[in-house]
Amino acid sequence: MRLDEVTRRDFPVLGRVVNGHPLAYLDSAASSQKPRAVIDAMSQYYERSHANVHRSIHTLGEEATELYEGARDHVQRFIGAGSREEVVFTRGTTDGLNLLADALCASLAPGDEVLITEMEHHSNIIPWQIAARRRGLALRAVPIAERGLLDLEALDRLLTERTRVVAFTHVSNVLGTINPVASICARARRVGAVTVVDGAQAAPHLGLAMSALQCDFYVFSPHKMLGPTGIGVLWGRRERLAALEPTRGGGEMIKEVWLDRAEWNDLPWRFEPGTPPIAEAVGLTAAVEYLEKIGMDRVGEHERALSRQTLEALAALPGVRVFGPPAAVERGAVVAFTVDGLHPHDVAALLDAEGIAVRAGHHCAMPLMRRLGVVGTSRASFSVFNAPDEVDRLVRAVADLRSVL
Ligand SMILES: Cc1ncc(COP(=O)(O)O)c(C=O)c1O
Repeated sequence: MRLDEVTRRDFPVLGRVVNGHPLAYLDSAASSQKPRAVIDAMSQYYERSHANVHRSIHTLGEEATELYEGARDHVQRFIGAGSREEVVFTRGTTDGLNLLADALCASLAPGDEVLITEMEHHSNIIPWQIAARRRGLALRAVPIAERGLLDLEALDRLLTERTRVVAFTHVSNVLGTINPVASICARARRVGAVTVVDGAQAAPHLGLAMSALQCDFYVFSPHKMLGPTGIGVLWGRRERLAALEPTRGGGEMIKEVWLDRAEWNDLPWRFEPGTPPIAEAVGLTAAVEYLEKIGMDRVGEHERALSRQTLEALAALPGVRVFGPPAAVERGAVVAFTVDGLHPHDVAALLDAEGIAVRAGHHCAMPLMRRLGVVGTSRASFSVFNAPDEVDRLVRAVADLRSVL
């Protein structure tokens, strides 16, 4: 049985009819839909066990704490982290990257360098720009080469003795490019730079093992991998996290407080001030369990097959341009395209009229759009519940747009 035939009925929203057509949801790279297991786990938590975590002695408080900390154990296993202390809960990828930019750059000196890439999401550009402006740092970017791959020779040239941080995406949210994380990290290590990886488009599709990636920090958003919004994951190598000074204060992140000073809590709570996203952690556990039950190999295989089908079919249509590496190269689960003579927003609106949901615009990657010479693109992206006939519908609808023109 194909994966979508197994999973489809688990997603209540997929029963919707949109503009008179069955919904074809091809926008999981922005945010995926949620299976019943995630929705039920969160409402059951609110119906039975909600209380604040860590500081309650009563039964509900203990249950909530167990559920919240249980989510950390699930994530540790899911991403192959060495210990639960290395898993910090944030509000999302953007939040994790801001936390890292603040904390890592706090100790840098004017003239130190931060290296990003031309294919980054704004979440992995702006926090570094803010930190660079604040501390007088130089922000540089590795260009992309042919076929949407990162220019690794340029990377080597851009790495210098002053490079302190290299921050880059694991999988591009526009091109679908999968960057060679371990190889980039090895190069960065040679100049003593800390590595930060944006895993927002990788965690939902690739089986992750932090030890194999060899980076120092890795962040992602559960809402793109069948989980809820409002919670994020920041993984940090233990010694790196331990060396990092917190930049956000409040309850829970301290052991002892005086009026003029404080002693920080242990890892990971040191980086989790205030009431955390508890129900969201419960939903995250359910999402991880759901994905693990399928197996990430099967998840990735299914989504790769859909991406390949889309890429090949769209590329064959006259007047349609697809972006990123060719189908023969292993890619993420996104396919960005433009249709000659039509603005990407018009493409998305016309597809929506047929019940097909795709993303359109700059995809929070304006520097990349500029590099590609387009104002924006339309983008189809895939999850475990998508079926090949949804790709057929998309391709037919795009072909019809061309014939209308
Ligand atoms: C590559 C990449 N990085 C970062 C983000 C930001 O994620 P979030 O909005 O969940 O913080 C996204 C979201 O689209 C993304 O695709």
